[in-house]
Amino acid sequence: MAARLEETLDPEDWQAAARIAHGALDQAVAHLRDLRKRPPWQEMPEDVCAFFEGPLPRDPQPLEAVLRSVEEMVMPYPMGNGHPRFWAWYMGSGNLTGALADFLAAVQGSNLGGGRHAAALVEQQVVRWCKEMVGFPPTASGTLVSGGSIANLLALTVARNETAGIAVREVGLGALERPLRFYGSDQLHSCHRKAVETLGLGNCALRRIPSDPDFRLDLPALREAIAEDRAAGLRPACIIANAGTVNSGAIDDLPALAALAEQEGLWFHIDGCIGALIALAPHSCQLVAGLGRADSLALDPHKWLHAPFDVGCCLIRDASAHRAAFATTPEYLEEAPRGLAAADWLFELDLQMSRSFRALKVWMALKEQGAAKFGRLIEQNIAQARHLTRLIEASPFLRLMAPTTINIVCFRFEAEGLDEAELKILNREIMLRLQEEGLAVLSDTTLRGRHCLRVAICNHRTRSHDLEFLVAAILRLGQEIVAPLEKDPAGAGGGPTPGKWPSGPAR
Ligand SMILES: Cc1ncc(COP(=O)(O)O)c(C=O)c1O
Repeated sequence: MAARLEETLDPEDWQAAARIAHGALDQAVAHLRDLRKRPPWQEMPEDVCAFFEGPLPRDPQPLEAVLRSVEEMVMPYPMGNGHPRFWAWYMGSGNLTGALADFLAAVQGSNLGGGRHAAALVEQQVVRWCKEMVGFPPTASGTLVSGGSIANLLALTVARNETAGIAVREVGLGALERPLRFYGSDQLHSCHRKAVETLGLGNCALRRIPSDPDFRLDLPALREAIAEDRAAGLRPACIIANAGTVNSGAIDDLPALAALAEQEGLWFHIDGCIGALIALAPHSCQLVAGLGRADSLALDPHKWLHAPFDVGCCLIRDASAHRAAFATTPEYLEEAPRGLAAADWLFELDLQMSRSFRALKVWMALKEQGAAKFGRLIEQNIAQARHLTRLIEASPFLRLMAPTTINIVCFRFEAEGLDEAELKILNREIMLRLQEEGLAVLSDTTLRGRHCLRVAICNHRTRSHDLEFLVAAILRLGQEIVAPLEKDPAGAGGGPTPGKWPSGPAR
């Protein structure tokens, strides 16, 4: 019988493959070089959307053709977070070295489940650097994960297991004598709700304490809640502090919360996804003093270290508690005295087993730029947020809606005679036109029932003039939207109604 031809995914012609890869690299570099010339975001034409409805490709096509599809259909329509005028939600803006690292990491191809190889050492070194950057002790433990949500989930898993008073892993939550209570402010990121739900504690196990007028966790209210829950027979377990709230960038009183947790015998977790790396900033670092007192900390290198998505980091002060929460070594993964299996299994610190080599993008960018440069860039974003705040305060049409603590600015366009609902329609319309006209991308939120625009400057490409441009654009758009309504007032009060807006109600 004739031998069947054996196949591989490797190219038949390596020289040709190298030429094609070099071409793709040149285009990628040009894409980053020319970011500013393109709009931060643009709507995709119908043919682009239709293109992605195509069937499973059963037959091959040349790599050049596949790359052309990427060039024409994918690269022109990014989310936009690399652009200098992208300030929506909260994300970093990437960097060329990090992108190169992702390519090299994929080529090197290691599985970060563990083993004795260089990629595992790189990850362990990056975790050590994360500890050093935020003032965690060298004896602490940590792991790189997909992002802040999972970093918080892992940390809260350890917190749950360490405070439950039972062997949760073995007997489950059904054996709890008293339900656990976790505490955080009403400004917590939504991932904490997902975490307590996933952990089987239920949403009601996370008691949201009203924040103070500056959107910081109200300490007396927290103390009262803990006492009340103890009296009711519940088991207060963990305080979750914000080092930078997602809504407005407020930073809870970390030293006071650390002291309270200690006094009450509670686990102290800090969500530092937004603000932990302020510890690197030469002037603002004191804003996050106390990070090192946490039992666990979540931080997000894909935010202020601008690592391309995705990479988060979970740090746990007590290394044995960390391992105790996740370690299981099946018989097929027994450590060996020598060779590839003669190293700690990194999956014993995580829920995932197979994992990408995401450490390399953080490692290479830190080596190339130095941690001090990242600290200066963080400081630069904070200074830019102050600049924007001053521009807002100087305008009679704009109102600041929350104190600017770090790099998040909440404000809105106001026009006389509009109620809250109308102001929301007006400001959402401004936000959408900024996107659709390709001027800037920002997002919105609601603070104590009042809607506002929100600019989160986690962007190493933003320049002060971009913020001046933004304010001018918002003033123009606000006036353009309001002017026809003033000429043609609707109803007795003269205020606009949703149907009266030039482009209809906000979506
Ligand atoms: C304060 C805070 N915590 C957690 C998260 C979740 O992080 P990720 O999107 O990396 O999962 C975010 C995201 O912006 C955040 O702002």
